[in-house]
Amino acid sequence: MCGIFGYVNFLVDKTRGEIVDNLIDGLQKLEYRGYDSSGIAIDGDNKGETIIVKTPGKVKVLKQKIIDEKVERSTVFDNHVGIAHTRWATHGQPMISNCHPHRSDPRGEFIVVHNGIITNYRALKTLLVSKGFKFESETDTECIAKLYKHIYDTNQKAGIIADLNELTKQVLYELEGSYGLLVKSTHYPGEVCGTRKGSPLLVGVKTERKLKVDFVDVEFTEPEPVVSHNANSKNELGLLPVAVGEQNLRTSQSRAFLSDDNIPMPVEFFLSSDPASVVQHTKKVLFLEDDDIAHIYDGELHIHRASKKNAGESTTRQIQTLEMELNQIMKGPYKHFMQKEIFEQPDSTFNTMRGRIDFESNTITLGGLKSFLPTIRRCRRILMIACGTSYHSCLATRSIFEELTEIPVSVELASDFLDRRSPVFRDDTCVFVSQSGETADSILALQYCLERGALTVGIVNSVGSSMSRQTHCGVHINAGPEIGVASTKAYTSQYIALVMFALSLSNDSVSRQERHKEIIQGLQKIPEQIKKVLLLEEKIKSLCDSNLNDQKSLLLLGRGYQFATALEGALKIKEISYMHSEGVLAGELKHGVLALVDDKLPIIAFATRDSLFPKVMSAIEQVTARDGRPIVICNEGDEILSSDKVLATLEVPETVDCLQGLLNVIPLQLMSYWLAVNRGIDVDFPRNLAKSVTVE
Ligand code: UD1
Ligand code: F6R
Repeated sequence: MCGIFGYVNFLVDKTRGEIVDNLIDGLQKLEYRGYDSSGIAIDGDNKGETIIVKTPGKVKVLKQKIIDEKVERSTVFDNHVGIAHTRWATHGQPMISNCHPHRSDPRGEFIVVHNGIITNYRALKTLLVSKGFKFESETDTECIAKLYKHIYDTNQKAGIIADLNELTKQVLYELEGSYGLLVKSTHYPGEVCGTRKGSPLLVGVKTERKLKVDFVDVEFTEPEPVVSHNANSKNELGLLPVAVGEQNLRTSQSRAFLSDDNIPMPVEFFLSSDPASVVQHTKKVLFLEDDDIAHIYDGELHIHRASKKNAGESTTRQIQTLEMELNQIMKGPYKHFMQKEIFEQPDSTFNTMRGRIDFESNTITLGGLKSFLPTIRRCRRILMIACGTSYHSCLATRSIFEELTEIPVSVELASDFLDRRSPVFRDDTCVFVSQSGETADSILALQYCLERGALTVGIVNSVGSSMSRQTHCGVHINAGPEIGVASTKAYTSQYIALVMFALSLSNDSVSRQERHKEIIQGLQKIPEQIKKVLLLEEKIKSLCDSNLNDQKSLLLLGRGYQFATALEGALKIKEISYMHSEGVLAGELKHGVLALVDDKLPIIAFATRDSLFPKVMSAIEQVTARDGRPIVICNEGDEILSSDKVLATLEVPETVDCLQGLLNVIPLQLMSYWLAVNRGIDVDFPRNLAKSVTVE
């Protein structure tokens, strides 16, 4: 996740200093979307000159750099386009060359900021390199800027001067993946195009005078074939058929921006990933839809479509008036980042798999591990090392690792592993799992393993973090920044990344093809199934109100795959609501814990269907025989106990056994959240805890 911001002024005089301040201010409001680097692009004093300032670090570092570089502030522009970006790295570490904006060439003919992931960037890059382009970064975004120039130059050679929006259509035709995108160009001064697919983008409009209508017409152009150069297949970057020549005449002003006397009116536009950065300027915003291209020039906003018109498609976009307060908007409809992140899981889990799983051929490609797989397959054992929630994701996937790879796997808490000075050998593979990539205990354990010559693998959320850099290879889980202190979406993404890792290690085994297919098909359904589990929020909330809020302690019972879920659920509840809770292996109940059970102690039991289901049921019966009335998490439509014996059931969709924990953990995330909120705790900042524990 990244934040993009653009500012356009037309017939409103602004100094360069004011423009820069607007961009910086916009970025600061977007910082929660990514904060490892940032940058801006604005016009210089000479024609065709662009100033780009960018740097790793938070927006305040960029602000200081702009001061240090003495960017001139007094020049006045009556029409100007500035674009800006705050980044959460997915492609390439947070270092200056990888910061946005990215340019097509040293002269900066096309400048781009982008949020999202271009999944076919490698193929595009290879092609553009063969055309003579020199890349300056490791990002996927840079290929977009270069593609603009390549297509622009190709058009020009064919005698075609395409409009910026037509050029954008041609570029989008070549891109696969997701994007929120802004482009400015020295060939189109005072103009900007913004477009989106799968990533958010909106346009704020600020005028002195009232807009004539509160909508903008969508301008559909039916494609005209253009044969302009030899390359005629899509793969060779042939030109997309777009309207050129006579069709290229610009349409008259969009109705919303017509003044009474037909003279263009002074206007400012704000393009952004989030209304949070726009509301202090204007409450009038237009939310773009996927495949919309917003083209701003001469004080007008035009909406074009990158795809053909479908029957019944809306032909206008509303300009809405936002009534929300700033704080409300940052977190969307959610009260806390933790709640927002819990509800982001359909997207974050999808992003972990994006570009890596081919659901048609049931294959997985983890670019960061590919060349290491043969070595890992030959290793003596796998050690998974982590802390807290990340440790639980290792426990949750250990058994599928063992089943698929037949390599012994041990799971270690980093601190304990170090305390024991556990033996590590050169033929071990040590897997480090961490959201932040900066947790001190895990980093020390990593150094310990590196010193002993083991192969180290990272499963990390933060690109460019110490762990991501120091491991030999690894997988970035791409869950987006996690801001709430309690880890939620990182857990489900780590879980999926580890399952993908186990599948990749065993993809050469013919006898496991069916099992592979089953798991991959199961993974495909997970984001949709998570959406269904999230619908349980109301029921969980009222369960907390009626039965759990005043309790002092809670027991969670799980077995097999669900033991990790029980531990993770218990950790979430204690860290956020401060209620004592304990995850217990259901098989251990009879070895002591049963003494706690009576008709008062709240108990949550995981009884979803897998091979251990009968054993879990016997544990539940031991509880009910002692007057315990558990809350049971079971599969949809599964009536496993009569209703007088259970306090409540929470039904979740069924999936493959080794993936069920992804769905079962979500009711516990929601429960911990509501228990804490009901106790008046600031969920995003629970006491005594920091987001990344960088002390031992
Ligand atoms: C790349 C993109 C990813 C995109 C995918 C498919 C990068 C950084 N990532 O992912 O956003 O979804 O293509 O288009 O370009 N690494 C470590 N330790 C770690 C984590 C990663 O050494 O803890 C290394 C990997 O070995 C690899 C590099 O970092 O060399 C990037 O890893 P990753 O993002 O997972 O690679 P891809 O799956 O290729
Ligand atoms: C729990 C939590 C912690 C972290 C642990 C490891 O919600 O956030 O238990 O999981 O401190 O942190 P990372 O994953 O950053 O190494």
